Amino acid sequence: MRVLSGIQPTGRFHWGNYFGAIHQYIELQKNDQAFYFIADLHALTTIREPEVLQGFTNDAAIDLLALGLDPEHATLFRQSDVPEVTELTWLLMTITQMHLLEKCHAFKDKKAKGIAADAGLFTYPVLMAADILLYDSDTVPVGADQIQHIEVTRDLAQRFNSIYKKEVFILPESYVLDQSSKVPGTDGEKMSKSYGNIIEIFTPAKKLRKKIMSIKTDSTPVEDPKDPDQCAVFTLYQLFASKEEQDQLALKYRDGGMGYGEAKQTLYDAMMDYFSDARKKREELEARPDDVEDILKAGAIKARAKGREVLDRAKSACGLIYK
Ligand code: ADP
Ligand code: TRP
Repeated sequence: MRVLSGIQPTGRFHWGNYFGAIHQYIELQKNDQAFYFIADLHALTTIREPEVLQGFTNDAAIDLLALGLDPEHATLFRQSDVPEVTELTWLLMTITQMHLLEKCHAFKDKKAKGIAADAGLFTYPVLMAADILLYDSDTVPVGADQIQHIEVTRDLAQRFNSIYKKEVFILPESYVLDQSSKVPGTDGEKMSKSYGNIIEIFTPAKKLRKKIMSIKTDSTPVEDPKDPDQCAVFTLYQLFASKEEQDQLALKYRDGGMGYGEAKQTLYDAMMDYFSDARKKREELEARPDDVEDILKAGAIKARAKGREVLDRAKSACGLIYK
């Protein structure tokens, strides 16, 4: 079984990305063959500053490794290091019906808002299908918002196989990530970089503390009892603390006498403890950029070998291998 997923380098990773995706990718690497890539070609649809793109891509690689992605168990690579993916995108594009892409939400949302979309955004799901089909992936862990794209991928795989009357592509299944406990941001709404409410995983300690202290709370006086279930600080604390620790803090909320400042400090301490190994590992990796580059290069060689095989199968099916 091959698990594959991609993550866009469009910003530094935050707690929502970690608990909603990265943590689960890392769990999955234990049982199966896993391919994870940094989707820099996809990020081009939103980032047009080369230094910014490179910075986020490098940081994404270091962050993933620091958080526990193990190159012994998972293949990590940059999407653009496997150019075969763009060649497959074209083959798929020639069999993609317009109406399939017209109903995809990224494009539809932009159109509804009256914003002009680039062809890159319109055809984004085809590149994503190529990402998946190029490696014979059968399991694709994604958030609920990406399920539609896996459906498109299955449609395209089926259509290609049926047009060329060959089982060229394996039909992938989506593995829906558990995002039931949506991670709230500093304003209590879903944490997302588009809402400006994120808490990044690897911010320097002082800045992180300031961010945590800025989480929105109500104006219940210190001495009054408080409801932990209505408080973003408590919801976030649950991500980092054991059941016992959660019960203890909940009790303090309900008893009254604890201010939100103290709850925030408790959250800060728990989070620092939770990510302490990752923070150390990140510092080490940052000091060895050549080693990180070697990991990405080795990942790309492995991914390319598989990609070449599948691309040749697809080219042969449509008559592009000339003898
Ligand atoms: P953002 O919303 O900050 O732009 P992305 O769309 O790049 O984040 O998300 C990357 C992954 O992280 C996706 O799988 C997404 O569903 C997950 N994710 C992002 N924010 C959250 C959140 N607040 N709670 C749970 N999962 C999240
Ligand atoms: N579109 C995905 C996102 O925005 C990222 C992605 C690109 C991806 N290619 C992929 C995810 C292939 C899974 C498989 O989150």
